[in-house]
Order: sequence, then structure tokens, then C-alpha cells
Amino acid sequence: MRLVFLGPPGAGKGTQAQILQQRFGAKQVSTGDILRENRAQGTELGKLAQSYMSSGALVPDEVIIKMIDAELDKLSGGFVMDGFPRTVAQAEAFDCLLDGKNLQLDAVVLFNADRETLIARLTGRWTNPRTGRTYNAATNPPRVAGIDDDDGGPLVQREDDKLETVGKRLDVYEKQTAPLVEYYRRSGKLVEVDALAPVDAVTKEIVAKIGVPVEQRAAG
Ligand code: AP5
Repeated sequence: MRLVFLGPPGAGKGTQAQILQQRFGAKQVSTGDILRENRAQGTELGKLAQSYMSSGALVPDEVIIKMIDAELDKLSGGFVMDGFPRTVAQAEAFDCLLDGKNLQLDAVVLFNADRETLIARLTGRWTNPRTGRTYNAATNPPRVAGIDDDDGGPLVQREDDKLETVGKRLDVYEKQTAPLVEYYRRSGKLVEVDALAPVDAVTKEIVAKIGVPVEQRAAG
């Protein structure tokens, strides 16, 4: 399974990528997570990305493309690209990288949601920085506020989930990433899901629309 998850911040791309990784073994490749890890470790890449990320802007294309090239080399099976590509330049470069490795995308899943819901989801999000598992204060709270259900460690809120930065990220999506909808529609690989539905229902719709064989669905 080789997928791209396309959709605005807060649409649930990371949540669903984690589920597909657990269920089908398709590796979640989150450019946001890789950048945050680099930032936490204080690498050159992390330092460069910091100012873009905290203001809600995109990190420059050439930096991201180099990063994905390195990630593709590490992959041996399927993947879910979560948050990449995000510009037409990134999508074109990705096509070239895939061609060069004789790989083809199975589908691009577009997550549809309205702005009001996205703002509520992002400002209520809590994340386990050790595993990437996300919760939501309103719709999917942990058993104990601020504590992860699985490992009992602290949950954190992302600095770019502040209301003012969330608005900027949504505007950036509309301007720089939304043109990818047409790009992938033309390729015939685009499928759309209702990202406003509950988490389980979104997973079901994705699995049905990307054409996972029935025996693999049952195993998952
Ligand atoms: P990144 O980390 O990729 O953030 P994003 O795309 O803005 O997406 P999010 O992680 O905020 O949302 P999501 O769709 O994954 O939603 P989630 O599942 O968490 O990027 C961060 C920054 O890094 C960018 O701003 C940029 O600076 C940089 N960057 C990254 N990639 C880049 C690239 N390719 N090029 C350039 N720059 C790049 O869910 C959100 C909340 O909703 C959670 O609380 C969750 O529990 C809840 N939720 C999820 N699904 C449901 C549901 N069905 N019902 C109810 N609640 C739900």
C-alpha cells in the first residue's frame, strides 16, 4: 500500500496514518514529525525549520524534498505520506523520485473538513511526543487529563496549535496545498473521504475507497 494523505491541518491525517500503520504495516511518513524530531535534537535541519514551523509557514521545498528522498531509501514496504507533498513543486519532485525507484502510488486520499471543525480539533489536540498518539480534549480525551493511556507519560500541546497560528496554517493550506487536489485528480488517483465522521468511520471509508483486498481487511 503506497498512499498520500492530503488535507488541511487537523483533518485527521496523522490519526488515520497511525491506524493504517498498525493495521496494515504501511509506514507512516510524517514530514511534520521528522521536522519536530530534528528540532528536539537541535540538528541543523531542526534549527532551519523552527522559524517556519512556529509561524505556521511551510519549510522550503528543497529541504523537504531532500528529506523525503532519504526517507524513501529507508523504506522496504508500503507507506502513508502524512503531510507530504504540500506544494505542486513537492508533488512533481515526488513523482520523479518514485519513477526513479520504480514505485507507483496506489491512491491519494483527500480529507474533507470545514474550517470551524479544524480549528476546534487543533486547539484541543494533545499528543504523546514519544509515540505520536493524539487525543482531543473534546472528542477523544485521555482517561486522565494530560496523561497518555498507554505509557502513562505526559501529553503535550504543539506550539503551532495556538489559535493565531492555526488560522495562518489553514490559510497556507488553501493557498499552497489545495492546488494539489486538481493535480492528483488529473492523475486519476484521488479519492475523497468525509473527515468529519468519527475516527472509525473515516478508517472504514479509506479502506473501502483505496481498494484494500478483503482478506487483508479481515487480517487488520
Ligand atoms: P504537520 O505536522 O504535518 O501538521 P499538519 O499538516 O498541519 O497536520 P496536523 O498534524 O496538524 O493535523 P492532522 O491532519 O494530522 O490531524 P490529527 O490526526 O493530528 O506540519 C507541521 C508544520 O511542519 C507545518 O506547518 C510546516 O511548517 C512543516 N511541514 C510539515 N510538512 C511539510 C511539507 N511537506 N512542506 C513544508 N513544510 C512542512 O488530528 C487533529 C486532532 O483532531 C487530534 O486531536 C485528533 O485526536 C482529532 N481527530 C482526528 N480525527 C478525528 C475525527 N474523525 N473525529 C474527531 N476528532 C478527530
